Order: sequence, then structure tokens, then C-alpha cells
Amino acid sequence: AVTAVIVVAAGSGERLGYGMPKAQVPLGGETILMHALRGVVSSDVARQICVAVPKGDTVLRESIADFTVDLVDGGPEVTVVDGGSSRANSVRAALAALEDGTEFVLVHDAARALTPERVFQRVADALSSGAKAVIPAMPVVDTIKTVAETDGQDASIAPEVVTGTAPREQLRAVQTPQGFELATLRRAHEAAELFDEKQAAAVTDDAMLVELLGVPVHAVRGASQSLKITTPLDLIIAEGLLEGPLG
Ligand code: CTP
Ligand code: MG
Repeated sequence: AVTAVIVVAAGSGERLGYGMPKAQVPLGGETILMHALRGVVSSDVARQICVAVPKGDTVLRESIADFTVDLVDGGPEVTVVDGGSSRANSVRAALAALEDGTEFVLVHDAARALTPERVFQRVADALSSGAKAVIPAMPVVDTIKTVAETDGQDASIAPEVVTGTAPREQLRAVQTPQGFELATLRRAHEAAELFDEKQAAAVTDDAMLVELLGVPVHAVRGASQSLKITTPLDLIIAEGLLEGPLG
């Protein structure tokens, strides 16, 4: 089946705090985006790679052009689009740029720069086996609780109070690439375009939009190397992974 991979790289990287888009931040002598793109290419799942970059960013566009020149004949076609104001808007911009005939799409965070090839392959395999939606997921190590803001007298004790504890064996920390039948993901994103501001702000991945359609989302095993580089600590961990036995 013809599969495309969308790489969303249009975020600003506020929490990393480098004063530049996160995709441009150096990691082991290369940028975060170049690591991510090499991972996609070496997994060999994509006919097309569509990268969403920050609007007006010429640095990333030029580096993608250089990367594309070095690809061997028969390698994936690389397309670049301007991202949007939210991750979901960046995904939508890329969805609009996929070639006709594309059947499956994987959506991947550039910030997960070190995702192993095998995770892309597991996701692609599940799609080939008939899944309309599939996510890589990891068991949760922390105990996860829900909380609410305290009010009245309790507010002088602590800002939040626990409202429940989710059973940990049923919880998963979800990663990318998330894979979809293209028609299903397009339908999910069209529905999400009607969201109000609050609903839109609560969208943190693509699978949740597909869940809202009532389409089953399957989970395969992710990888710890697939961590999303979000904070300075994450960047230190990623540098360590590159230097260590996993690099
Ligand atoms: N992303 C995007 N377009 C946006 C926002 C995010 O393409 N408008 C991408 C990021 O580039 C990243 C992925 O979505 O690869 C996950 O987002 P996140 O880790 O939050 O990255 P940033 O938004 O860049 O970071 P921050 O929230 O700290 O600013
Ligand atoms: Mg963000």
C-alpha cells in the first residue's frame, strides 16, 4: 500500500527554551529534524514524506532541500508545507499536500528524533494487517491521578485535591508515529475543524480525533528511545542515548 509519513516540525520549542524552533536545535552534531528525517527514511515505510515547518522558516526548508538531494534514487518524495498555529493545524496542512493514491499515513513528531525504525515498521505492519488506526504505546511507570483545583477553605492547604487514581495496568503513555487509513484521519481532522477554542486546545494527538469517530485505535509497543524532546532534561537524555550503547 502507498504510505506517506507526515513529520510535524512547526512548533516553536518554548519549553526547550533555545530561542529557535525546536526542529533546528542541535543534537549530537545534527539538528533534531535531521535525526527525525533519517529515522523515517531508514525505516523504509514511506513513499512520500511531508514535513510541516514553521511558516517563514527558511533555515529548515534549506536543510530539508539538502537532505533530499542526498536521497538515493527510488527513495521517498519529500514535500514541505507551512505548519499552522497548533499541532493539529500543522497536521491538516500536511494532509492537504499528500499525493493522490496515498492509502495510509503515519504522523510523527519531529521532536521524537530518535524513534527506532522498528517502531515505524510495527505501526505500518498493523495498518497492513487491517487496522484503521494504530499508535505506539508504553506502560506507565508513575501512578497517575486526576486532580481538581481546590476552592474555599481547602485552597489555603494546597492548590489541588485528588479526585481519583487510574488503574495503572490499563494506562499507556502514547508516542508517535501514529498510523491511520488516510481517509479516516482526514475525516477525523475535518470534524475537529469545528471545535471551539477550548476543545481545540485539548487535542494532543491524532488518535483521539479518530477515537471520537468511534473507530477502534490499536496499540503496538513503542520504545523508550522514542521520548519526545520537550524540556532541557529530555535533550540531555537524547544526547546520552546517542553516545551510549543505544546510539
Ligand atoms: N508542532 C507543529 N506545529 C505546531 C505545534 C507543534 O508541527 N503549531 C509539532 C512540533 O514541532 C513537535 C510536535 O508537534 O514536533 C510536538 O509538539 P511539542 O513537543 O509541543 O513541540 P513545540 O510545540 O515546538 O514545543 P513547545 O510546546 O514547548 O513550544
Ligand atoms: Mg507544543
